[in-house]
Amino acid sequence: MEYSRTIFEEYHIDEDVGFALPLPLEELPHPYDAWISIARNLPELIKNNQLRMEVEKLAMLSIDGLRGHRAQRLGHLVLGYITMAYVWGQGDGDIRKVLPSNIAVPYCKLSEKLGLPPILLYADCVLANWKKKDPSGNMDILFSFPGGDCGKGFFLVSLLVEIAAASAIKGSLSQDVHCSHSRLRLVYTGVIEVRRVYLIFFVCLFLEYVDPNLFFNVLRIYLSGWKCNPLLSEGLLYEGVWDTPKKFAGGSAAQSSIFQCFDVLLGIQHTVDPAAEFLQEMRTYMPPAHQSFLLSLKSRPSVREFVLSKGNAMLQETYDECVQAMVSLRNYHLKIVVKYILIPASRQSKAESSIEDLEAESRGTGGTNLMDFLKTVRGKTVNCLLKEH
Ligand code: HEM
Repeated sequence: MEYSRTIFEEYHIDEDVGFALPLPLEELPHPYDAWISIARNLPELIKNNQLRMEVEKLAMLSIDGLRGHRAQRLGHLVLGYITMAYVWGQGDGDIRKVLPSNIAVPYCKLSEKLGLPPILLYADCVLANWKKKDPSGNMDILFSFPGGDCGKGFFLVSLLVEIAAASAIKGSLSQDVHCSHSRLRLVYTGVIEVRRVYLIFFVCLFLEYVDPNLFFNVLRIYLSGWKCNPLLSEGLLYEGVWDTPKKFAGGSAAQSSIFQCFDVLLGIQHTVDPAAEFLQEMRTYMPPAHQSFLLSLKSRPSVREFVLSKGNAMLQETYDECVQAMVSLRNYHLKIVVKYILIPASRQSKAESSIEDLEAESRGTGGTNLMDFLKTVRGKTVNCLLKEH
């Protein structure tokens, strides 16, 4: 018990919410409350075209008064929201290529302290952007972008998937799991639970709250980064920090540790192709403790090798059910991407491009050539099935 607690602390993993930040702070002390008040009124300030002016008026603050991990994560979250809003403005193509020093300097210092890149991350807008709305445990997000309830649906569904994975992660940390039987059982329970939650919440919440056109035309813009993005091909200049512009990928659920965690546990290897490189790169957008956790999992015995070495049909079947659950998650995710990116893109396309052309052209907020990437990742997962299905 003591052992697991220490390990939880080492890897910043919570028994109840997994990789999500437990009970994120909602307020910062003066003078950082000025950041909070901008972030809280973001949609209104953007709508009234006042956001950039308000940001430029902010005082340059030292980050020394942000004490403790939760205050620093809240600081990173609000500066991330402010930065995205400052760069993309009203989402109409009038963009800024320079982030003023009063924001850039504290943002980069804080990012360095946390070991995170200075851009809005999944670790910010999903893992640290939530609160319990009422005693019955209903949840809400702390900060929103324009686009109505779109962000709420997207971020909360992702968070619920994270929480569903918590017990499997907890299990994979406990001491007795070098017993490969228990490891397989835990992975099985975890993957099946994640698939269940993913499907239920997508159907019940996501499809209700997240309108494809609002997602595509509004929220997606504010999550976009400045790497492989023709709108900011040089990157963003962080004034007062670096002399040249820097490129960082936008917020994407590809930065979640869960899928990568299950891949490692199941021995699904993504190696030597651009998709593998992208997944590897996405680890550098995760909190350092979670990156270390993924590395530490790799050094433990692989469930796949264990199953193969035993030649036992029941074990193989259980293993295949886990892999099949990952395949169906990735299949369902691909359908969502068609609905939320490709179809709205085809409606907007003046050149009447076909879905195939759009598949080749479209990029995700993380900057990937998205369909190629997602299909490669799914293909690697399918290849891990022991039996043909
Ligand atoms: C409107 C809903 C969604 C859309 C349009 C979407 C889109 C994308 C895109 C375009 C990528 C490629 C990487 C990039 O460039 O960003 C990606 C990757 C990924 N997304 Fe989503 N996503 C959605 C929801 C979710 C949710 C709710 C989850 C689960 C928490 C999720 C998990 C992942 C994962 C794990 C990857 C990495 C590829 C993999 O391991 O299969 N996505 N997503």
